Amino acid sequence: MIPTVEWKNGVVCLLDQSLLPRRVEVLECRDYSMVAEAIRELKVRGAPAIGVTAAMGVALGAQAVPSTNREEFTVSVLKICDHLAATRPTAVNLFWAIDRMKRMLTQNEERTVEEVKLMLMKESIAIQQEDLAMCRTMGQHGAKLIQDGQTILTHCNAGALATAGYGTALGVVRAAWESGKKIQVIADETRPVLQGARLTAWELMQDGIPVTLITDNMAGSIMRKGQIHVCVVGADRIAANGDVANKIGTYSVAVLAKAHGIPFYVAAPYSTIDVATPNGDAIPIEERNRAEVLSVYGSEPIAPSDVQILNPAFDITPAEYISGIITERGVFAPKDIAEEFSLRR
Ligand code: MRU
Repeated sequence: MIPTVEWKNGVVCLLDQSLLPRRVEVLECRDYSMVAEAIRELKVRGAPAIGVTAAMGVALGAQAVPSTNREEFTVSVLKICDHLAATRPTAVNLFWAIDRMKRMLTQNEERTVEEVKLMLMKESIAIQQEDLAMCRTMGQHGAKLIQDGQTILTHCNAGALATAGYGTALGVVRAAWESGKKIQVIADETRPVLQGARLTAWELMQDGIPVTLITDNMAGSIMRKGQIHVCVVGADRIAANGDVANKIGTYSVAVLAKAHGIPFYVAAPYSTIDVATPNGDAIPIEERNRAEVLSVYGSEPIAPSDVQILNPAFDITPAEYISGIITERGVFAPKDIAEEFSLRR
């Protein structure tokens, strides 16, 4: 599969997810504002992938700063960081990755501009490689929770496309599949932007993992028939008390899972865990444009064009609905996540 995001000869290459599955095209970003635009327009999306891409955007922007004066260079790169940080508010991986790039910039004041340019580029690639490694480890931990013959429901896309590769929730699915378990996936279509239909279905089919697509309103009925054994989703931000922000509709799935006695797991790396945010209510939720709801992926309007619209892109699933959080360090109860991830950070 084409990598989600890649640094190639001084260009940030993105698999343009806004075109999938109709067209498989790589977008070549040659300056940081193009990277920012790609994040804003969901050409690259998914919390870890946004973080990796923003880091590469900082590195890309830094290469083009003309000044050889170290202080001027730092000021310019910090502005680039601010520009990239203003793209999307919910996924904490974006801010985590940009902060890491800022530390590389400001903690090496004795280094020349040329040296720091190289260091920033290498740091962004390290972030990418670490993310891929974490996804694989997370997959190993999560796969132990999945039994042979089970059907897993997932929401949105928390797969290779949403990360540096392999995926978080879909990493768990992949690892279970690779270990020989005969599993299958039910993918919620995930209105309004259809990440489940367009991306999860496409990605799993590429790997030959059995997947069945449903519309979002079918999950409850399918659970009631006993056809879902476990739910696994990703996360955009996990607060200190274990509340989880993820794609809009995740909360409904979690409530339904609890009502039917189905385990509900969240898979995410440490870069998604935000111990500085006390609970879900403190997580900023992105409100996106009305066109996403008014039409179905660029179709003619499906409602009166002046109807009032709400379009929150994420929701909060309270910790009490979550059976466990699958991380690269193992599986934790939501209430233990802050302790585990603030002590050893
Ligand atoms: O708006 P998106 O497509 O960026 O939202 C993505 C999600 O909500 C994912 O579930 C989340 O980022 C986890 S990705 C491993």
